[in-house]
Amino acid sequence: MITSFPLAAYQEAATFIRSRTAHHPKIGLVLGSGLSPLAEAVENAHVLAYGEIPHFPVSTVEGHAGRLVIGQLAGVDVCVMQGRFHFYEGYTQQQITLPVRVMQRLGIDTLILTNAAGGINPSFRAGDLMIIDDHINFMGLVGNSPLHGPNLNDFGLRFPSMTDVYSPVLRRLADDVATRQEETLKHGVYAALSGPAFETPAEVRFMRLIGADAVGMSTAPEATVARHAGMRVLGISTITNVAIDVLDSQAQTSHEEVIETGRLVVPRLTRLLLGLLAGMG
Ligand code: HPA
Repeated sequence: MITSFPLAAYQEAATFIRSRTAHHPKIGLVLGSGLSPLAEAVENAHVLAYGEIPHFPVSTVEGHAGRLVIGQLAGVDVCVMQGRFHFYEGYTQQQITLPVRVMQRLGIDTLILTNAAGGINPSFRAGDLMIIDDHINFMGLVGNSPLHGPNLNDFGLRFPSMTDVYSPVLRRLADDVATRQEETLKHGVYAALSGPAFETPAEVRFMRLIGADAVGMSTAPEATVARHAGMRVLGISTITNVAIDVLDSQAQTSHEEVIETGRLVVPRLTRLLLGLLAGMG
């Protein structure tokens, strides 16, 4: 089991990627479940399969392509992960977050993380977009932190602060862009669970009680590693379903529903991201 990578592994992957593209992205974008089609908007794309890149795992989940797409969105150089890695796939926390550190070595200083999430806040509906203000990382809280193991001082501190994981400047920019586009954004706390089982109704009620607005199976480990490495982070959840909080409800959560709603949201999310990138560039 891979519990830590040496600095040289991240460097090797970054050197390989650099040898395969002339673009110099400063912004990374991770696409969540059902959001892979967004990568088709990338212009002048250089595409690398994860399997080609040293030390990269491969994505095993339906709805997650496994490609790094480097090119331009809104005229801005970006490095897009079309498909991400999850803890439930059997990879370690260090493996699922390896691409974030590789991006940092590539010179990327801003990371936009997207995901599909279940709505816990009673005011949320399927199709809503939520800016992640903060997270509760259940995986990290029970001992599965991506920063577990020897600290790599080249990335950051042994005991990094996590009081401002999601950049206040970028959260405000997202609101400004959304207002101009007449798009309504929700804000909230994202609870990250390891999955792959969806939550029981009692777990959903528990998470609401402790202050979570949405729940998913990704993002928090990547955000933790990015913040540790000094990157600015923006997180956007697409609320693909309302998490079921009532026992014996006839409703069921399904991966198909998550993927389908994700697809429906892609045009709005693409517009928001293009506006954001134009604002950052
Ligand atoms: N729970 C956990 N992860 C998810 C959900 C959910 O309801 N929807 C999309 N990803």
